[in-house]
Amino acid sequence: MITAEAKLAGVMGWPVAHSISPLVHNYWLQLHGIDGAYIPLPVRPEHLQTSLRALPCMGFTGVNLTLPHKAEAVAWVDRIDETARIVGAINTVTIDRNGKLVGSNNDVFGFCEHLRQGIGNLAPYLKNIVLLGAGGAARGICHGLVQLGADTINVVNRTAAHADAVAKISPRIKTISWEERERKLESATMLVNTTSLGMQGKPRLEIKLEALPKDALVTDIVYRPLITLLLKEATERGNPTLDGLGMLLHQAVPAFEAWFGVKPQVNGQVRELATRALA
Ligand code: ATR
Repeated sequence: MITAEAKLAGVMGWPVAHSISPLVHNYWLQLHGIDGAYIPLPVRPEHLQTSLRALPCMGFTGVNLTLPHKAEAVAWVDRIDETARIVGAINTVTIDRNGKLVGSNNDVFGFCEHLRQGIGNLAPYLKNIVLLGAGGAARGICHGLVQLGADTINVVNRTAAHADAVAKISPRIKTISWEERERKLESATMLVNTTSLGMQGKPRLEIKLEALPKDALVTDIVYRPLITLLLKEATERGNPTLDGLGMLLHQAVPAFEAWFGVKPQVNGQVRELATRALA
C-alpha cells in the first residue's frame, strides 16, 4: 500500500524487464513498512538524458541504472563520487535537497561487502588474485580489492590495451595475456571472473582449474545462471566459492538507505526471493 506521499525510486535500463531490483527494494519497503515504491523504468539510450533530468521535476528520490546506461549516465548527472570517477560508471543516482543529481557506484561496495560477509578472514585470499576481464565491472572490482588490501592483482584479458587501462588504477595491478591465464593459477589465492563468459546466451568460460590451489577462493560476478560452470567445477574440486548474487544484493543496501532512510539487511529471505526470480 502506498499513499500520495510515497517516496519514489526505480531502475532505468533498456531492456529493464530482467532486473530483480524492483523485487528486492519492494520487499525491503514492505518489510520496514515504508511508504514508498520502486518501479522499473524502461528508458531507451537516446532518452537517458531527458529521463534523468526529469527525475527531480517528478519528485523522485533516486534511481538505479542498469545496462546499457552505467557509463553514459556519468555525463548527465551534476556530480559523482570518488569511486564512480575511478570506475567511470554509476549505478545509483540520488536527488539531493537542492534537486541536484548525485551519481555513485555501489557495485564496488556490493562486491566488497559480499566478500566481507561471505568469508570471515579475507586476508589469506587477498595475497595473489587472478582477475579475468577488464571491462567496467573489472575496474570497479580491482579498485575495491586494492582498498581491501590486496597484495597483487593479475588482470587477465583478451585485449591487452583494456587490461593496461585497468592497471593504471594501482601499481599492485599487473597484466597477463589471456593465453597465460591457466599458468597464473598456480600461485593464486583468489580467482575472480568479471567477464560475461559463462552467462546465459554467452560463450562458456574456457579455463582449466587443475593448477589452482584447492584453498583458493573462486568468485564469479555472473548470476544467470547462479551456479556457473566455473563455480560448479570449483566446488566439485573443493575450492571455497562465492556466487554473483551477493554483489547484486549488497549493492542495493546503500542506495535504499540513502533514499528511504533505513539500512536493510541482506538476509536469507531476500536471497531466497531473488534466487527464485532468477530461476
Ligand atoms: P562490463 O563493463 O559489464 O564489465 P564489458 O566492458 O563488455 O562489460 O567487458 C566484458 C569483459 O569480458 C571484457 O574484459 C572482455 O574482453 P575484451 O576487453 O577483450 O573485450 C571480456 N570478454 C567478452 N567476451 C570474451 C571472449 N569471448 N573471450 C575473452 N574475453 C571476453
